[in-house]
Amino acid sequence: MILVTGGAGFIGSNFVLQWIAEESDAIVNLDNLTYAGNLENLISLTNNPKHTFIKGDIKDQKLVKDLLNKYQPKAIINFAAESHVDRSIDYPAEFVQTNIVGTFNLLNEAYQYWKALPPEKQNKFRFVHISTDEVFGSLDAAEAASTELSKYAPNSPYSASKASADFLVRSYHKTFNFPTLTTYCTNNYGPYQFPEKLIPLVIINALKGKKLPIYGDGGNIRNWIYVEDHCNAVRLILTKGRPGESYNIANPYSNTNLEVVKEICKILDELFPKSPHFPHASLIQFVKDRPGHDRRYALDTTKIQTELGWKPKAEFESNLRKTVLWYIDNSEWIKKVTTGEYRNWMKTHYPKEIR
Ligand code: NAD
Ligand code: TYD
Repeated sequence: MILVTGGAGFIGSNFVLQWIAEESDAIVNLDNLTYAGNLENLISLTNNPKHTFIKGDIKDQKLVKDLLNKYQPKAIINFAAESHVDRSIDYPAEFVQTNIVGTFNLLNEAYQYWKALPPEKQNKFRFVHISTDEVFGSLDAAEAASTELSKYAPNSPYSASKASADFLVRSYHKTFNFPTLTTYCTNNYGPYQFPEKLIPLVIINALKGKKLPIYGDGGNIRNWIYVEDHCNAVRLILTKGRPGESYNIANPYSNTNLEVVKEICKILDELFPKSPHFPHASLIQFVKDRPGHDRRYALDTTKIQTELGWKPKAEFESNLRKTVLWYIDNSEWIKKVTTGEYRNWMKTHYPKEIR
């Protein structure tokens, strides 16, 4: 049994689906279903005995303690977070609560649980904390990619809250020898991403003929990784990573935002040459920049490649096409997410006591 937190969100639900398909251990999935949590992502696991969903908050000390004691997980993977930079500018308090206080609570309860395990179980136990490339702050165009030892320089309330959590995780290893692992990953894309993030937002807007907002000059650079590749890397780090270490996860490809948006438009032009919105790039609109907008993120993946044998994948265009096709094929999912209807899922599909 492993405990996954935030497993109804974008990356978490992809991870849960991949884990159930590939691994033998069952999952307890703790998620408090914020606007970003969507149980419809896990519809294929309804009645699957390998998946137990618990609606609850990682800040809830008693709940976390009880879950650990009841399910006796051999690992915890912490995806739960407030994850959107723009929201952190408007509502930073939620980010402090979940990302810092929540991670602290989970970490501390996990440590108490681990301390009481017999030595052979202690040795095998792992606490994997999912962080982000954003903790290293913004790089200039010519600067070398960040390594796991680069200086932290978070610039948004989101990245600052993630950085704070990372320090707590680090301290539990240094002080208590608690077997933690931290992962830094670049921007993910793929199925089930909430359409507030650049790629799903642009796909959905373009399909509807709505404007495609590009912050500033569109020259900000991000490294994009297909969510499936990220989840594979997390599973590898869980089994082979050295406790106390952190690992970068990234792909070889980096693009400006404008390049990404134009690539999506190109794919849509090929798929829908007769669309009234053709050419889709005509929908691009430059808008006011995000305050404190980081210019460039880039991660050096030498460590995960040499130590764990991980191979980054150079398949941005084909995976972007796959992602566009997924959103086209899943118009019901989009409709429910954009109307807010997905939030009724719990009411209609789960017994009253766990809603
Ligand atoms: P998301 O916002 O899609 O999902 C977050 C999930 O956490 C949701 O299901 C939400 O309901 C749940 N959650 C939020 N607060 C909670 C709480 N207090 N208790 C329990 N559950 C809670 O986020 P995502 O994009 O899937 O990101 C997952 C993790 O990966 C985050 O830690 C994020 O910082 C990190 N990350 C994301 C990216 C990216 O590109 N999306 C890149 C690098 C790292
Ligand atoms: P986002 O998907 O929010 O991820 P992050 O801020 O964590 O990198 O944004 C990716 C990039 O796209 C970022 O540079 C901000 C930019 N962006 C836009 O230009 N327009 C938009 O509407 C959004 C949501 C993002």
